[in-house]
Amino acid sequence: MGTTKHLVVGGSGQVGSHLLAALTARGDSALGTYHHHPREGLTALDMNDEAKVLAVLQELAPQVVWMPAALPDVDRCERDPGLSHRLNVEAVRRLARTADDVGAKFVFYSTDYVFDGRRGPYRESDMPHPLQVYGRHKWESEEWLLGHIPGVLIVRTAWVYSQEDNPRNFVYRIREQLRSGQPLKAATDQVSTPTSAAELADRSIRAVDAGLDGILHLVGGVRLSRYAWTAALAEQYGYPARVVQPILTHELGLAAQRPLDGGLVTEREG
Ligand SMILES: NC(=O)c1ccc[n+]([C@@H]2O[C@H](COP(=O)([O-])OP(=O)(O)OC[C@H]3O[C@@H](n4cnc5c(N)ncnc54)[C@H](OP(=O)(O)O)[C@@H]3O)[C@@H](O)[C@H]2O)c1
Repeated sequence: MGTTKHLVVGGSGQVGSHLLAALTARGDSALGTYHHHPREGLTALDMNDEAKVLAVLQELAPQVVWMPAALPDVDRCERDPGLSHRLNVEAVRRLARTADDVGAKFVFYSTDYVFDGRRGPYRESDMPHPLQVYGRHKWESEEWLLGHIPGVLIVRTAWVYSQEDNPRNFVYRIREQLRSGQPLKAATDQVSTPTSAAELADRSIRAVDAGLDGILHLVGGVRLSRYAWTAALAEQYGYPARVVQPILTHELGLAAQRPLDGGLVTEREG
């Protein structure tokens, strides 16, 4: 493409910041937004602010609107389903409609948590059956987008990590916990497909370049348990794997149920 204009809603997040970096690296024009975490060069936008959403979209007139912005905290969604619905459903509709009105392609990020994790990994053609509020709201958005927004691309991904020193990055959290000497527990019965944010960004952009729409699974090529992943990270940082204590998910006392035998399979690619 080369000179396409992009808006990345949630440019301050893990996926959004990698999208912005990849888009600008190839010479496209990309504006990113933040909400609670300001970053240099980004524009403030609360996706619940209808007037501001409209103003930003009309002024920028982008060709592509990327929406990694979300409330991805699964346990918070479970405790506050109203907030989850506002951010993971209502804000998505508002943004998608406005993007469609200005003629932009809309790219939404979703999750393997739309599946129940009884028999993973899941393909694009498998039927969702979410176990928790977060997954139900993401699926609700997917269904609405497919029915109302022509050409929408829905990228489902799983267990996103990066090289960033930021607490929302799983790899960083593990490294910091190892350094602090705190006991580290990881579930042996939760299996999924870790995905590098940088690769996810590149592959998402390739998918848009190729004109893909509908549902697309984009994940890393390795499927393993939280425990195996955490133990491998410990060894990578010079600690023996035994510093990681195996545990079962139900023993963690989390608010939201997790899909256990989860992860995704990529069937189509740009
Ligand atoms: N991380 C994963 O493992 C994972 C797995 C599967 C699917 N996904 C999906 O991938 C997408 C990106 O995830 P991520 O890891 O990049 O999440 P993240 O790092 O938590 O980023 C979320 C983004 O949403 C923005 N945001 C939150 N509330 C907002 C509001 N009211 N108005 C505007 N922006 C708001 C945040 O802005 P501020 O930080 O500036 O407030 C941030 O930029 C999400 O849709 C998530 O559901 C993630």
